[in-house]
Amino acid sequence: MKGSIHSVKALECLPQTGVGIIYSPAIAAIDFPMGLIDTLEIEPQTLCIRNSNDVLQIPSNVFEDIMALPYNKLVHSIGAPVGGTLPPKQDQLDLIKYSSELFNSPWVTEHLSFNATTEFNTGFFLPPLQTEKGLEATIRNVRILQEKIGRPIAVETGVNYLKPNNMEMNDGAFVSALAKATNCGILLDIHNLFANQLNGRQSIVDFLKEIPLDQVVEMHIAGGTELNGLWMDSHSGPIDKRLLALTSEVLPDLSNLKAITYEIFDSYIPVVGDALIISEMETVRDLWEGRKIHYKAVNNEQLPKSVYNVQKLNREFEPNEWETLLSKEVIGRSHESEGDTQQERFEIYKKLIKEFRASMVARIFKLTTRYMMLVLGPDVFTTILQHFWQNYPPEQLSYKEAKNFADYLQKKDYKLPWLDRLLRYEVAVLDTLMDEQLRIVEFDADPTPMFNALSQGKLPETIGALGEYEVEITPEMSNTDWLVLEN
Ligand SMILES: [Fe+2]
Repeated sequence: MKGSIHSVKALECLPQTGVGIIYSPAIAAIDFPMGLIDTLEIEPQTLCIRNSNDVLQIPSNVFEDIMALPYNKLVHSIGAPVGGTLPPKQDQLDLIKYSSELFNSPWVTEHLSFNATTEFNTGFFLPPLQTEKGLEATIRNVRILQEKIGRPIAVETGVNYLKPNNMEMNDGAFVSALAKATNCGILLDIHNLFANQLNGRQSIVDFLKEIPLDQVVEMHIAGGTELNGLWMDSHSGPIDKRLLALTSEVLPDLSNLKAITYEIFDSYIPVVGDALIISEMETVRDLWEGRKIHYKAVNNEQLPKSVYNVQKLNREFEPNEWETLLSKEVIGRSHESEGDTQQERFEIYKKLIKEFRASMVARIFKLTTRYMMLVLGPDVFTTILQHFWQNYPPEQLSYKEAKNFADYLQKKDYKLPWLDRLLRYEVAVLDTLMDEQLRIVEFDADPTPMFNALSQGKLPETIGALGEYEVEITPEMSNTDWLVLEN
């Protein structure tokens, strides 16, 4: 590996890209003071769709608009996680390569997690099996990325809501073995480590003692929240004071750190407001600029809880067996989980996946879901969603999740006339968005009062008159140039 771009030396030589933030249209709209931000970190998959033939389509004009923004760009992939037995798919590799070349990303980051089994998607990043066999799969995947992308790859340290068990390596030992075997970079997500520490896994200090610190090229930092006694990696706003203190302590040891990136979910941006994001970026810049100085940490609470010996996960697995077992648990398809001491932790994943799935459907079928909530009430609507979730595994892309929900509702045939009308209409809107074909949707009653009322979050006072109505759906909303990469 000497002289190779996949060597520790090559990591040392990477350019500094400084203070960054995860890109979203809402972030791009914030009026940041000059010089506060150096870099945008782009998740290319969040900008793409798949057409009805499952072909990945890239909005080339959107990519070029981002390219023109006056910042460095880093590619942060979410489509080829390296923590499972499934190798990265060719179209994901093509997308990552295309994006990293277009954005001239000095390195590319990916997650140390898995998000699919051979049978279904999990709808969420899940932790890898941290054994020798799990490590082998992970090494294989990182090598594929290194070979295909042609740029240094840095692997992001993940959050893990499960209790540790003694069949697994420590979190730090696992990352360390991967980093040493592949010479990959490490994207140290300090908030993930913080959550792991608070939730009873390895402490940040112990984790850092195990990993090769000179391979840490980037840091992620974020805000989280406590839920049912667990610290969640929610990317929801301000950085916890304890984490800031810990980060200041850690930074001087990361001699090859090239970037520090603040993560916030775009749905929290309107909630917390631009001013808070700007002030958090000022905090991150202070961390970055002051990183040579040794800060004194504030008095930390005594955090780590006891280590548990967990029957169900505490045995020897084949990696794909682990992935299937864990995935089935978290999407609610396991039949034998009684009495497992991980149950409460599985519930955390289940809750996260359900929230994510519900938001995907609600975003695409706004009218249908509002109508169901208002007519059936939240409890019945939730029961319907639960039944849908039991019968359809999660999808990674919103429109596929929404199509599955439409399919489910159509088969159920709830005999609610407006449910049927609204669903047909919204499915047609979605289809037109995907294939850019004009569509006419016929109604046997005037849909205008229903559309207007639902858009204000209520039911209409009077239902539209019966008669023959047509709504034309044009592809005009889509002024996107979709690009398909050929091999
Ligand atoms: Fe992260």
